[in-house]
Amino acid sequence: MDRVIRLAADLEVGRLGFGAMQLCGPGVWGDPPDRSRARAVLRRAVELGVGLIDTADAYGPESNERLIAEALHPYPPGLVIATKGGQLRPGPGEWSVDGRPQHLRRACEASLRRLHLERIDLYQLHAPDPRVPLEESVGALERLREEGKIRLLGLCNVDAAQLRRARAVAPIAAVQNRFNLFDRVEPELLALCEREAIPLLCWFPLANGELGTGAGALGRIARSRGLAPAQVALAWLLARSPVTLPIPGTGSPAHLEQNLEALDVSLDRAEMAALEDQRRPLGARLRRLARGGARRSRHLARALRSRRA
Ligand SMILES: NC(=O)c1ccc[n+]([C@@H]2O[C@H](COP(=O)([O-])OP(=O)(O)OC[C@H]3O[C@@H](n4cnc5c(N)ncnc54)[C@H](OP(=O)(O)O)[C@@H]3O)[C@@H](O)[C@H]2O)c1
Repeated sequence: MDRVIRLAADLEVGRLGFGAMQLCGPGVWGDPPDRSRARAVLRRAVELGVGLIDTADAYGPESNERLIAEALHPYPPGLVIATKGGQLRPGPGEWSVDGRPQHLRRACEASLRRLHLERIDLYQLHAPDPRVPLEESVGALERLREEGKIRLLGLCNVDAAQLRRARAVAPIAAVQNRFNLFDRVEPELLALCEREAIPLLCWFPLANGELGTGAGALGRIARSRGLAPAQVALAWLLARSPVTLPIPGTGSPAHLEQNLEALDVSLDRAEMAALEDQRRPLGARLRRLARGGARRSRHLARALRSRRA
């Protein structure tokens, strides 16, 4: 397994990045409860060789980028700060999209200021906006790239057809989608990324912590190898395809070190096959369904209230 991956002809990073979203308050809102611990985790990640830190203007919102600048600026050479624009935060735990060109320009310029950067190495569209043709959102980012405000463009939460459309407008250096043992990425998208050698940043690589506690084959393999379930889950993602670049998040220095050790874990063919069949346990699936239902009811109640107002 390659330990590094190429984002551009002259830019390589390690195969395991760090997702900074957890370094916010509850509901990805405001500052983390222990700011100095959060700063220390970011600095330790860089010390341990992490070459890509993923953030977004929507995390906090804004406070996550500020925290990264506070902890790491001036950035060591070669460290990629990957941020995103195109989402809005109406409140804690709430997200909406805005992919209009004028919004993306304002968002990118504000991220540049908060991160104290002249140019953002990897700027990602956080999600396609169904009200804006993808070509318009990507075109806006391409203009920012031509102006030198962005070095490389990335897309999050896209399917293979959207990636193809975006590539007709601008060079796309990376894709970022949810990918973990429980939630697989669309096979056509993975195949396209592999064919075109486009790194695929995997968000929720630990299923937001669910994979930290091992069930089924994951737990069995972790126990038999004396590894933590999270290490096996990350090793599976790394071995699953040469283009994966998991970005696990943690607020714990011990988990950070544990996660980075996954680079040294190699799984054999039988272990990979057993993990391929791993599914979310039934209890967890039911709890997710119930949470989804509660969320939908809250959205519905809000929509009804705003119609009455
Ligand atoms: N593009 C998008 O739309 C999008 C969406 C969501 C997330 N993301 C990105 O993806 C990154 C990763 O997602 P995430 O951080 O939410 O989820 P994740 O990496 O799947 O899981 C993080 C959770 O796992 C726990 N954890 C981490 N290492 C562990 C270990 N070794 N053992 C046990 N538990 C462990 C953490 O708790 P502790 O703090 O206790 O370790 C935390 O609760 C985010 O930070 C963000 O940058 C992008």
